[in-house]
Amino acid sequence: MTVDPGPAALHIDALRRARASARIGHTILYFDSVDSTNTVAQRFAMDGAAEGTVVIAETQTQGRGRLGRTWISPPFRNLYLSVVLRPPIATAVAPQIGLVAGVAAVDAAREWVSQAAVKWPNDVVIDRRKVAGILTEMDADGDRVRFAILGIGVNLNTTAEDFPDDLRDKAIGLCTAAGRPIDRVEFADHLLSRLEEHYDLFLREGFAAIRPLWESRASLIGRHVRIDAHTQRVEGVVAGLAADGALLLRAADGNEVRVVVGDVTVDGGYR
Ligand code: BTN
Repeated sequence: MTVDPGPAALHIDALRRARASARIGHTILYFDSVDSTNTVAQRFAMDGAAEGTVVIAETQTQGRGRLGRTWISPPFRNLYLSVVLRPPIATAVAPQIGLVAGVAAVDAAREWVSQAAVKWPNDVVIDRRKVAGILTEMDADGDRVRFAILGIGVNLNTTAEDFPDDLRDKAIGLCTAAGRPIDRVEFADHLLSRLEEHYDLFLREGFAAIRPLWESRASLIGRHVRIDAHTQRVEGVVAGLAADGALLLRAADGNEVRVVVGDVTVDGGYR
């Protein structure tokens, strides 16, 4: 007889051992429950935490998503982490960090499910459902970034029945797509390794080196989409990314439209 051991805490010592000599994850601060790992990481960064410090929690009581949304954070199943970064870049290009992380998160997810793709700006989707989201927040010194907090939430072992009704057809756990439970330490190690790799490339060669990687992993190039931002709506066919990371659409009148913020919806309801 097999017995389901139920949800278990992350083997944080194993993750710490795996990341001990890495640039991202050399220091891992682990909590049972926090309001938001981004808020906690921000506090540590204010107090001087080094680049590459990672905050992980088993659950968040006020997990934040993009555009003021809530990130639902049930305990023991998923990954909620925030990374302190100190990139020597201007605030104007800080959103590119989220795109870098999107590429890293897709590559990590592809170790389990090859169809994982990035949906602008940096959601990871499988079969039109969201598996991971990224929220980048920053602190500035004039027009330079003092630090950026890169928050990543990944639905790893949440099954369809665990999602609230309104998310069931929009979100998916990596376990469902992979057909087996996901080892959270293994996933976190892959994610942080891929992040380190792509972040290094970004610092060495700039966003020009990341852009083709993002485009080759994108789910919507060539698709007709609608984008809602604040009170504005634009429509067009996704052409790719601009040199600065804005999304480029070809509108019906042939003009190119740049989008810097918003939520992408595909014809037929893919959100
Ligand atoms: C989104 O897709 O809307 C972004 C979601 C980001 C969620 C993660 S979970 C870890 C970190 N802490 C937060 O409060 N948010 C991010």
